[in-house]
Amino acid sequence: MSKGKILLTGGTGFIGSHTWVELLNAGYDVVGVDNFYNSNDKVLRGIETIVGKKVVFEKADCSNKEEFKKVFEAHPDIVGAVHFAAYKAVGESIEKPLDYYRNNMVSLLNLIELMRDCGKRANIVFSSSATVYGQPDKEHLPISENAPLKRSLSPYGKSKQMAEEILSDSVIAYNNVKVCALRYFNPIGAHPSALIGELPRGVPQNLVPFITQTAAGIRDHLNVFGDDYNTPDGSCIRDYIYVVDLAKAHVKAIDKLMEEKVTVPEVIDEPTYVDAAKTGRWFVYNLGTGRGLSVLELVRGFISATGVNLKYEIAPRRAGDIEQVWADPSKAKRELGWSADTPIEDVLRSAWNWQKTL
Ligand code: WQD
Repeated sequence: MSKGKILLTGGTGFIGSHTWVELLNAGYDVVGVDNFYNSNDKVLRGIETIVGKKVVFEKADCSNKEEFKKVFEAHPDIVGAVHFAAYKAVGESIEKPLDYYRNNMVSLLNLIELMRDCGKRANIVFSSSATVYGQPDKEHLPISENAPLKRSLSPYGKSKQMAEEILSDSVIAYNNVKVCALRYFNPIGAHPSALIGELPRGVPQNLVPFITQTAAGIRDHLNVFGDDYNTPDGSCIRDYIYVVDLAKAHVKAIDKLMEEKVTVPEVIDEPTYVDAAKTGRWFVYNLGTGRGLSVLELVRGFISATGVNLKYEIAPRRAGDIEQVWADPSKAKRELGWSADTPIEDVLRSAWNWQKTL
C-alpha cells in the first residue's frame, strides 16, 4: 500500500536521485521531473537498478509553467512535493545572476501555484542551504535554526533566501500550503551501490569531487584554498554530511508534512519566520552532522579511508569562502527523529567507489 505519490523536481540531480531512492524505499510512490540541465537519463537507470523496478519520470522544465502543468494533469494524485530543481553553482551565479533568479524563482513560483491549486493540502519540502546564514559569528557556532540570517554573498545564496521568504509568505496567505525548508550543509559521498552519485559538470568546484578526480588521476593535484585561517590547522571548517543520510531526512520531512494534524509549536525560535511558524504549517531544519571537519582533515581522512595517496598543495584563499561553519542538528533530531551518523571514512569510501565507475 503506497503512502502516497510525491512529486520530485530535479529528481535526477545529486541529492534528488538519492532522495528518489529513499522515498521509494520508505513506501512512497514518486514521479520524478527534470529537464536534464545538470544531469542525464543514466541516473534513471541507476535508480531502477537500485530499487529493482521502473521509475515514473516526466521530462519537463519547471520554469515553463505550461510544461510543468502537464505533469500535474498526468498525476492528479500527487500528495506532496520535494523541490530540488534549481541552478546551484555559487561562482556561476555571480557571473549569470539573471539566469539564476529567473530559473530558480520562476520554477519555485510555478511549483507553489500548481500545488496550491490542486485543491488539497500543498505539502512542499524545499531544498534550502546553510548559505542563508553567511559567515556566522563565533558565538552562533554550531549553527541552530534561530541563528540570524545574513545577506548571502552570491545570487545562488540569495535565491535560497528569497525562496524561503516566498514560501513562508505563501504559508501565511494560502491555508493549504504546508512547508518544510531543509538547510543543507555540505552534502558529499555516493550511494553504497556506486550506481548513483555526484556528476559535476566540467572542473569540480566542490572539494570532494575534486579530491576523487585527483585520486583518479584526472586532476594533477588538489589545491587547498588557504591554510592561514583562524582554525586549528589553518584550513576552513565545514559540516560534511553523507548524501544518503541527507536523503533520508527528506523522507522524514515528507512524513511530518503528511501528518494530518496541524499543531502550532509552543516555542517559536525562528526570529525570521515567526508569523509563518504560528500557522503550524512552516518548519525549518538544519541538516548537518553537528561535527566540523577542516579541509586538511578531510584530505587525510580520504587517504586513510581509501589507501589512495593524494597530491595536494596549499594555494591562496578562494574569494567568498567563509572560514568555519557547522550545524547544530538537534532540532531535526528532536522533531524529525533524524540524525546523520555515517562515519566519514565510509562516506569518503563511497565517493571513491563512485568515482571509479566514471
Ligand atoms: C568546501 C571547502 C573550500 C575545493 C558550497 C556552496 C553551498 C553548497 C556546497 C550548494 C572550502 C575548500 C574546495 C577545492 C578547497 N552548494 N576547497 N579546494 O564552498 O563550503 O559550499 O558547496 O548548495 O551552497 O556554497 O563547498 O566543497 O566548494 O568547499 O580547498 O578544490 O573546501 O575552500 O573551504 P562550500 P566546497
